[in-house]
Amino acid sequence: MPSDKSLVAVTCTAPVNIAVVKYWGKRDEELILPLNSSLSVTLHQDQLRTTTTAAISKDFSEDRIWLNGREEDVEQPRLQACLREIRRLARKRRNTGEGDPPTPSLSDRVHVASVNNFPTAAGLASSAAGFACLAYTLARVYQVEGDLSEVARRGSGSACRSLYGGFVEWQMGQRADGKDSVARQVAPESHWPQLRVLILVVSAERKPTGSTVGMQTSVQTSALLKFRAEALVPARMAEMARCIQERDFPRFAELTMKDSNQFHATCLDTFPPISYLNDTSRRIMQLVHRFNAHHGHMKVAYTFDAGPNAVIFTLDDTVAEFVATVRHVFPPEANGDKFLKGLPVTPVPVSDELKATLAMEPVPGGVQYIIATQVGAGPQVLDDPDAHLLGPDGLPKPRLAA
Ligand code: DP6
Repeated sequence: MPSDKSLVAVTCTAPVNIAVVKYWGKRDEELILPLNSSLSVTLHQDQLRTTTTAAISKDFSEDRIWLNGREEDVEQPRLQACLREIRRLARKRRNTGEGDPPTPSLSDRVHVASVNNFPTAAGLASSAAGFACLAYTLARVYQVEGDLSEVARRGSGSACRSLYGGFVEWQMGQRADGKDSVARQVAPESHWPQLRVLILVVSAERKPTGSTVGMQTSVQTSALLKFRAEALVPARMAEMARCIQERDFPRFAELTMKDSNQFHATCLDTFPPISYLNDTSRRIMQLVHRFNAHHGHMKVAYTFDAGPNAVIFTLDDTVAEFVATVRHVFPPEANGDKFLKGLPVTPVPVSDELKATLAMEPVPGGVQYIIATQVGAGPQVLDDPDAHLLGPDGLPKPRLAA
């Protein structure tokens, strides 16, 4: 068992991000280089975050990792790629004489423990927050500075966008070695304070086709995907960045919905086809379009990733009415009091006119619960030693707190 002094531990948190211009398809599987650039919104860590502790000690005999309290195989290729990459950067820093005090011995093994405060693989981008947090925490413990896009990206492509707060683009880059395939902040988290995000959890089960395998099949079989990546995304990226800069919600909403629909169209164009949306997802889409029609302009937008859960963007003045509308169409079954998590929302009635425009039969329990959140900051270091998920012996503490 290592003595306290020989163990160096760092704990950090990282956010989830939701793409409004989607990444789907790789041009290099090994380096995880995308076929197109993508753009995302970083969500607030008060509601959704990964917490990771990394500890190094000369007394550890091997690298080990625990996810949500369970030990996992440290030999997973993507995890190994992140570890190799961070050690390469640490070695480079040492060789150039940077690093004061001297960087820890690179032969020291690392123990990593990571927990999410939300369901893993529920289509809530847990791998993005997880690998961003891993990259950020390893960088702190190995004293690596500078851009960590490559480290996070080697874990999961979308993870590089969780390295920054606010609005983030992942530039696809052109180089074969991926050095220019990096994440950059488009606007900080303070830029659009009225923007709100509602996650409508439709199913908390694991997804049937993971993103990695799904996008491989799409690249092999979908001509629509190739056309989207080459001919449509470049202009869409520029337009989306403009909408964000100008806080143009109606146009932002329209583009977000169109891009989500185009991504799911490429999934249907994949052979054999992939479908991530279910009947509830499609009802939510209908609800959003009718809600917007009732108001005469775009007040709400949906987007869906590789699963049936909806992520809704809206502005603070619309949240209460929209949540009431979701409650009307999807009346909570048993957990009425736990239906809404996260930011508080004032209960309001749904007008008869809105009900008439919706013209939708209630489906009890269709939406399990809603998480109300907003735009948030990038990864953070937790200074409190009590936050460490690993004890002085380098093993997970008995009770893991997110
Ligand atoms: C639909 O980043 O999970 O959420 O790079 O293979 O790990 P890998 O895939 P991943 O794909 C995310 C796909 C998406 C769209 C997006 O977040 O841009």
